[in-house]
This record gives sequence, C-alpha cells and structure tokens, in this order.
Amino acid sequence: MGKPVLVVTTRFVDEVEARIAREYEARRNIPEIPFTRDELLKASEGADALLITPLESLDSEFFKRAPASIRVIATYSVGLDHIDLLAAANRNIAIAYTPGINTDATADIAMLLLLGASRRAYEAQEQVRTGAWKASSPALLGWQLTGKVLGIFGMGRVGQAVAQRARGFGMKIHYSNPTRLATALERDAIFHASASDLLRTSEFLSLHAPETEQTHHFINSKTIDLLPHGAIVINAARGGLVVDEDLITALKSGRVAAAGLDVFEGEPKVHPGYVALKNTFLLPHIGSATVETRSAMGMLALDNIDAVLSGRAAPSLVPRQPLVA
Ligand code: DGY
Repeated sequence: MGKPVLVVTTRFVDEVEARIAREYEARRNIPEIPFTRDELLKASEGADALLITPLESLDSEFFKRAPASIRVIATYSVGLDHIDLLAAANRNIAIAYTPGINTDATADIAMLLLLGASRRAYEAQEQVRTGAWKASSPALLGWQLTGKVLGIFGMGRVGQAVAQRARGFGMKIHYSNPTRLATALERDAIFHASASDLLRTSEFLSLHAPETEQTHHFINSKTIDLLPHGAIVINAARGGLVVDEDLITALKSGRVAAAGLDVFEGEPKVHPGYVALKNTFLLPHIGSATVETRSAMGMLALDNIDAVLSGRAAPSLVPRQPLVA
C-alpha cells in the first residue's frame, strides 16, 4: 500500500519535515504563498489528511466542497477560529489541534510585547540603526512595569503563564475569564467577573482569549474608553479581538500610550495605520516560533494524523461539535 497523501501548507523544522517525507506523500503550496480556498480544495482531491496553519480559513464553503477522502485535518495551532468546526463535524472530518504546547513560547512573546511597547523598543532600535542617536542619552522615556496593574483578558494556560512572568516584574495581576480560577492557580490575582471592571483597572492590558463570537472585536472605541488614560495594550492572541481603526485612533491621540501586537486581523496583512505609528511594537505572529515549540507542535500534529488514519485514539482531537439536524 502507498503512503497516505497529506496536504501540507507550511514548512516545518527539519525533524518534522523528515518525518513527513518518510511517512507521507506530501502535496505542498509554493513556500510563503498560502493556498487560496480553490487551490487547497484542488490539492486535497484524493488526499487523506491536511496539515494547515491559522492562515488557511476553512469555512462552511470549504467543508461543503471538501473531497470525501479527507479523514482528518490537523491545525498547527491551539487557536481554532479559522475552522468551521460544525461544518467539519457535519462532514465527519476529525479536527486535531496542538493545545498546551505553545504556552511558554507565547507567554514569552507577550512579555516581549509588554516590554517592547512600554520601553519604546521600536523607536530605540530606529535611533541606533539609522544613526539618529547623537546625544549621550536619547530622550526615549518609557513606562515602568513595576507596581503597575496588568489586566489579563482570558486566563487560560497562556494567560496564567503571562501572570507568572509578570509577577517577577513586580506587576499586580488582575484578570477576567468565563470562570474564576481555583485558588491554587489564581494565587494573588484579582478576579473581575465583569470584563468592563477589568478594563477600568488595567494600566497594562494583555489579551489572551480565543477569538469567538463573544470576544470578536472586544477592543473597540467603547472598551478603550474604559481603560485608564495612557494604558498599554498587548495582543498575542488573535487579531480579530481588536477593531484596528479604533485602537489606531486611540494610539494617535495618546489615549492608549502604546501597543504591542503579534497578531492582526486579516494577517499576514497589517493595517497600515499601525505601521505608520511609532508607539507600536509589531511582530509577525511569532508567539509559538521557537525551535522547541514548533518542533513539538509539528510532531503532535503528525501524531494526531497517524492515529486517525490508523484507527487509534488521537492525542488531541477537538471534541466533536453537536451535529445540525
Ligand atoms: C496558536 O497556536 O494558535 C498560535 O497562535 C500559533 O499559530
């Protein structure tokens, strides 16, 4: 019997690539150019499995037209906002993801964003790289983390890992979450049942919620108005949590002093308003991008695909959605 056919939409670290080459007949996009929906559907004809990233949006139309040969789709992410899970369940296609693996890497990036935004790292880099640094000390005064309130919106694994790191910087942790954490996990963090109350107290606000119907565009002109004047906003979760125009307006006026962003609605396109501003510290969605994490994510994705194709229990399938009648 030939190898199973796997459609792969990204490049992996060497050991994951070696396993793909060993175990699968791989069909690939041109490097760096994501498949369009039609291209992905064409590549999927007769394929057994797909290994995708959050850049591929698998909507109901995709699943309506998806070839019957596909048994499993593994996404190289913990986020699932790019997949219509109900439509997948209706086509009896298993969806696998990579929960828990990217926690530390993503929490590290959130701290980089927090520091980069608050210490004006973009402007500082620019001064050094352009030779604009002439005086003995450039007047680039930032804002200190020590003693400030860090509001964490979404206290799952990554939110908790950010809290743990921020404690080390002397920050006071507040959070909101659909459910309050158990005391042992909450530690000294202050829970706000209402997200509005969290915003009112957040000198720094870090977003760590998944993008859902409830959290889509959570940061908008109304919620920004609740923040303390000169708050700093961090997003290492999903771009769709933020209304870009509203945050850009607030950054221009100084209502929000700075923003650190690793994710963007419609990425890899980035709203030009962010790029034009100096008080933004911008990264190209590299939350999970360490050798260790990306390797573990790739291996877990393949473990899931192997298990489904050989009829074994898979390590991290998304629980089946209730089917529509
Ligand atoms: C995730 O795992 O969802 C990260 O955003 C990486 O894509």
